[in-house]
Amino acid sequence: MNTNVDAQATRSTPIIPPATIAEQPAASVSSDESNVTSAYDPPISRKLMEGFCGLSTNTLIKYEMEGIIHPAKVKHGGLEMVTYRVTDVQAVLKKRGIKFKKGNEAEVISVFSQKGGVGKSAFTQHLGAMLSMVGRVLVIDLDSQSDVTSLFGLNVKFADLVAEDAELDPTIAELMDWRLKDGQESPYRKLPFSSVVKKISPTLHVVPADLDLGEINYSLNRLELEDRLDAEGNPRPAILFMIKDVIDALKSQYDFILFDCPPNIETCNVNALFASNRIIVPLELEAKCLKTMRRNEDFLKRLKTIHEGFQWDKILVVPNKFKRENIKIKALAKLQDIYAERTDVQLSQAVFPNGAIIDKCSEAREPVFVAATRYGREFKAAVPQAKEFTDLFWVVMHEILELPIDRLVFADQEGVEV
Ligand SMILES: Nc1ncnc2c1ncn2[C@@H]1O[C@H](COP(=O)(O)OP(=O)(O)O)[C@@H](O)[C@H]1O
Ligand SMILES: [Mg+2]
Repeated sequence: MNTNVDAQATRSTPIIPPATIAEQPAASVSSDESNVTSAYDPPISRKLMEGFCGLSTNTLIKYEMEGIIHPAKVKHGGLEMVTYRVTDVQAVLKKRGIKFKKGNEAEVISVFSQKGGVGKSAFTQHLGAMLSMVGRVLVIDLDSQSDVTSLFGLNVKFADLVAEDAELDPTIAELMDWRLKDGQESPYRKLPFSSVVKKISPTLHVVPADLDLGEINYSLNRLELEDRLDAEGNPRPAILFMIKDVIDALKSQYDFILFDCPPNIETCNVNALFASNRIIVPLELEAKCLKTMRRNEDFLKRLKTIHEGFQWDKILVVPNKFKRENIKIKALAKLQDIYAERTDVQLSQAVFPNGAIIDKCSEAREPVFVAATRYGREFKAAVPQAKEFTDLFWVVMHEILELPIDRLVFADQEGVEV
C-alpha cells in the first residue's frame, strides 16, 4: 500500500480503494439473531446475575415463573447450574425500572490519556463489556494499533501486512462525512453505519480500527475541509464536528458510546473529545504520573480555550497498576492530596492493582467478570483477583456516570427480595 499520504491526498485518490471496502460484510462475529455465545455474550452465573441486578435468588425465581427471564440449566461436572444471558439481565433491570444513565440520550465517554500503556484499552474493554450488561453499548476504536478491536475478539487486518487487494475493515473514517473545499473529491468513501459496525453481542457493538487511522489524522490536517453552518448560522468547523456528527446520529440507538483513544492529540482524538460528555483518564502510578496528569489536564484546558463547545460533565482520573512499593504509595498519596480539593476533575476511589488478570483477560479476549465466575482448579488462583477487578470497574462505572454506588457485584452479595 502506498504510504505517501500527502501525495495521495492531493491527488484526491482514495487511501482505501472504495471497491475493497464496499463488499465488507456487516457483521463478522455474531448478529442480534444469533444464538452463539461468545465471551462478550456469555452464560451468566446466578451469582453474577444477582450482582448485576442486586436481587436475591428468590426474586429471580419469581421472575422466571412470571416468564420475564429464561434461565438455562447446564450440566457441569455432575452439577446442574442455572445460567442467564445478557437479555435476562436487561429484562430484570427494565422490569425494576433501573437505568444506568440519567437522560434519554447516550452517554459518550472517551477513555483518554496522552500517555501510552496506562490502561486505556484495557479499561475500554472491561467497562464496555460491563456497560453492555446494563445497556446498549457502542465502542469505537480510534487507535490505529487496533488493540480494543482485537480485545473484543475481532480479527485485525493490518493494512501494511495484507495483500494489496485484500479487504480491509472499514473504520470510523468511513462514517465521517468529509466535504472538501472547491468541489474536490473526498478521499474516503462514506459507508452506512450498518456496514461498518461489528456486533459482538446483542448489546455490544464495535467500530473497529486499523492502521489507516494514523494516515487519516495526517490527511485531515492537510486537506481543506468545507465548513458548514448550524441552523442559526453559526460556523461548525468540519475539523471538530466530523465525529460528533456521526455520534449525534447514533445517540438514540445506544445508551453508552465509548472511545478508546490513541495516545496522541491528533485530529480524530480531538474530535472524539469534542463528541464526548465524559472522560476517563487511566493513570499509571509511577514517578512521572503527576507530570503526565498535568500534561493531560493542560491539553484539555487548552481545547476549551481554543474552541467553543468543549464541555464535559465529568473528568475522572483512575489510578492504575498500583503495587505496594514506596514510589507507588507516595504517588498515590500525592494524587489524593492534589485532587481532594478539586471539583473540575475527580480522582476515582477505585485504585486498580497491578494484576495478572488484566493480561489473562486480554489473551483470552474476555471480560473480567466472566473470568470471575470460572471454576475448576486451573482458574482457582485467578478468580479472587477477577472478582476484585470486577468490583473496581463497577465503582468506576458508577463514578463516571455520577450514579450512587449502593452495592458491589461480588463483595456485597446481599440481594434484595421483593
Ligand atoms: N491493572 C493492570 N495490571 C496489570 N497489567 C495491566 C493493568 N492495566 C493494564 N495492564 C496492561 O498494561 C498494558 C498496557 O495497557 P493498555 O490498556 O494497552 O494501555 P493503553 O491503551 O493506555 O496503551 C497491557 O499489556 C495491559 O494488559
Ligand atoms: Mg490502547
